[in-house]
Amino acid sequence: MVKSILENRPALKAEIDKVAEVAGYLWQKGWAERNGGNITINITEYVDDEIRQMPAISPAYPIGTTLPSLKGCYFFCKGTNRRMRDLARWPMENGSVVRIEEDCASYVIIADNPVKPTSELAAHLSMHNQMIEHGKGYKAALHTHPIDLVALTHNPEFLKKDVLTNLLWSMIPETRAFCPKGLGIVPYKMPSSVELAEATIEALKEYDVVMWEKHGVCAVGPDIMEAFDQVDVLSKATQIYIAAKSMGYEPTGTSQEQMDELKRAFNL
Ligand code: 13P
Ligand code: ZN
Repeated sequence: MVKSILENRPALKAEIDKVAEVAGYLWQKGWAERNGGNITINITEYVDDEIRQMPAISPAYPIGTTLPSLKGCYFFCKGTNRRMRDLARWPMENGSVVRIEEDCASYVIIADNPVKPTSELAAHLSMHNQMIEHGKGYKAALHTHPIDLVALTHNPEFLKKDVLTNLLWSMIPETRAFCPKGLGIVPYKMPSSVELAEATIEALKEYDVVMWEKHGVCAVGPDIMEAFDQVDVLSKATQIYIAAKSMGYEPTGTSQEQMDELKRAFNL
């Protein structure tokens, strides 16, 4: 048995435990069929000299894009083609730790096993690059396939700017409070593409969560639990909309005045 990078590093292990816990939630929610969805977290703050000395256990792979703020950073990433429900139980067998190379355009795997990171790495690392540049201390990125939110994107009306944001805010006050910038839409693009990554970070400048048309959502946060919460809040609002519609009526929604009151009260 190779020694795990988590051994004698309780703070790092605690972050990986959170990833595993969230991976389990994604499966329970029905958002993670097969290998659907991916998680990455920036673990650079937990890296010590011993980790810095660790040799690569893979060749250098290209990211597909150049991300200047990631030089020498370390990430834990779900492996490509790995199941969330397996990540939940065995995170270090279904994910790996990578180090970004000096060129900021490639990475190597350093631990525990040479598990190739998610095919959406360009999008994830672009989100991390932007999080560092924005200096908010955000460390986690999540992409998942919530049934309800994806279904909404099959209606062209909902793809128009801010239509979904306003609809979901109006379903329950929590959405307005906890997702104050709302849900951005990225028109359909090839999964795993750099174009998708670029459109994602562009939309994240304006919105809390980004919807990939007919595919899934991306959320970021201080840790993976909070990134999950963002999607969960939007999914709950969508469920309320669907429940009202299936009872045969168009939900009234909170009024603009009620939302404005909330905005003032919570300083949103
Ligand atoms: P990976 O298994 O490569 O992480 O891909 C899953 C996915 O959701 C692609 O968009
Ligand atoms: Zn996906």
